[in-house]
Amino acid sequence: MASDRPVAAASSTAPIDQTPEWRALEEHHRTIADRHLRDLLAEPGREDWSVIDLPGVHADLAKHRADAETIRLLVELAQRAGLPERIEAMFAGEAINTTENRSVLHVALRAERGSTIEVDGRDVVADVHEVLDRMGRFSNEVRAGTWRGATGEPIRAVVNIGIGGSDLGPAMATRALSAWCDPGRIHRFVSNVDGAAIHEALADLDPATTLVVVASKTFTTSETLANARAARRWCVEALGEEAVARHFVAVSTNEAEVAAFGIDPDNMFGFWDWVGGRYSLDSAIGLSVMIAIGPDAFGEMLAGMRRIDEHVRTAPLDRNLPALMGLLGIWYTNFFGASSHAVLPYAEELARFPAYLQQLEMESNGKSVTLDGERVGWATGPIVWGEPGTNGQHAFFQLLHQGTQLVPADFIGVIEPNHPLLDQHDLLVANLFAQTEALAVGRTAEEVRAEGVDDELVPHKVFDGNRPTTTLLLDRLTPATLGALVALYEHKVFTQATVWGINAFDQWGVELGKVLAGRIAPELDPSSPEPTGHDPSTTRLIERYRRRADPSPD
Ligand code: F6P
Repeated sequence: MASDRPVAAASSTAPIDQTPEWRALEEHHRTIADRHLRDLLAEPGREDWSVIDLPGVHADLAKHRADAETIRLLVELAQRAGLPERIEAMFAGEAINTTENRSVLHVALRAERGSTIEVDGRDVVADVHEVLDRMGRFSNEVRAGTWRGATGEPIRAVVNIGIGGSDLGPAMATRALSAWCDPGRIHRFVSNVDGAAIHEALADLDPATTLVVVASKTFTTSETLANARAARRWCVEALGEEAVARHFVAVSTNEAEVAAFGIDPDNMFGFWDWVGGRYSLDSAIGLSVMIAIGPDAFGEMLAGMRRIDEHVRTAPLDRNLPALMGLLGIWYTNFFGASSHAVLPYAEELARFPAYLQQLEMESNGKSVTLDGERVGWATGPIVWGEPGTNGQHAFFQLLHQGTQLVPADFIGVIEPNHPLLDQHDLLVANLFAQTEALAVGRTAEEVRAEGVDDELVPHKVFDGNRPTTTLLLDRLTPATLGALVALYEHKVFTQATVWGINAFDQWGVELGKVLAGRIAPELDPSSPEPTGHDPSTTRLIERYRRRADPSPD
């Protein structure tokens, strides 16, 4: 436990929406709400504040309904909320996850070997590198084929079993870095408790050449344990009990539960309570990724994250990309009333990035009480969603362009693709640029009329424009730029949580459903006592399911 870890208080004592900085933004919003991006984009000197170049990442914030004054006022709001102090408190290992009395040190997972970050007087960076070294040795053995299965064959398939942060990050990164993956090995990710998932994942695999990575911070998550038990049965039926030691490894903080499950703690890669599940990609939870891309490339991903960590700590807030991404999100959520935020990767390999961000952002900032337990008087985390471009253009972009909701969006593209089809890549990038231009500039009735469109069709063909976007252009999608992207969003989330005064690092909201599922599961057995204590609708559903062998109503 971390009871002696100090906690930095946010510097604002008044509720954030009662501060002069918030009021100044409300006032400023009135002046900017009627201004169109067509005019804002033409402002001289706009690129001075709106373009930020970091290693491998070019960020264009120009297409935001903001000007230099907006940025100044947002930065003042962040100062009022104590953002620089809170960032330092996180890096110093203070127990800023107050409801769980824990430090929040995903930044220590990518700290340089030899640097020092202490938790309860212990240098955690040394521990981190010890685990990274063990992961590296193990990954190299699997990759080289010197780690042999029970029948002496090398591993040809790796199945990661985990859910939430123990699945989304590794699955996203393995997909994103497919160009770095050894083509001779299959990588699969199983998360859903739906038996179809593990059944399909194992159906065409050979237990003798399959390694199962059971990834669970707590090692008590019912979905993961159910899937792991199914995989264990599949392995043991084919190869016998003693094969488990060659075909199962665990990634967890909970050695006792790993041992109780029947995985030798020698085959366990550990991490710590100060790593949140959704912030754990760069911990041992990334073992599947490391096996897929190799320890060197994994190290490059950590280096990409580290560069953003240095940036967030050292760049002034008005040039601090994750801080600005967070603050602009606040601008739309709290001053324009936007309730969702789209993330649109124009890179097929980033197909799982929106799903990964959904957990990172929504599990972190989907809160309605402040750190002090008071109900917030302002909106917090928006709904995050998205799909890769150009697919989304043929599905939901209609609403982005002409719907009644304001949906700020992040467009993520790459300059140099990881495939040789350059003409298609030009087309992809043209679409990305075209969409952000169309969303910003739109098309007026006069422009539509000038094209000879019939009067009655004109309103249907008008694009209001004035729809804000961020463009993040990566030089190339590499382990380093992927790491940078992940760290940018992690710090964006922290920026927002700091201003909103909420705890981005707990997730009490997932508990109730888990508890009720635990109660309902035995009640589904028709021979168990009748369900009690549920609302009438839930009781009816349980009873209908209990009658599954005899579905007639009476
Ligand atoms: O859904 C809640 C949650 O606790 C997430 O925060 C976490 O990433 C996921 O479940 C999986 O937890 P674990 O890694 O302990 O199995």
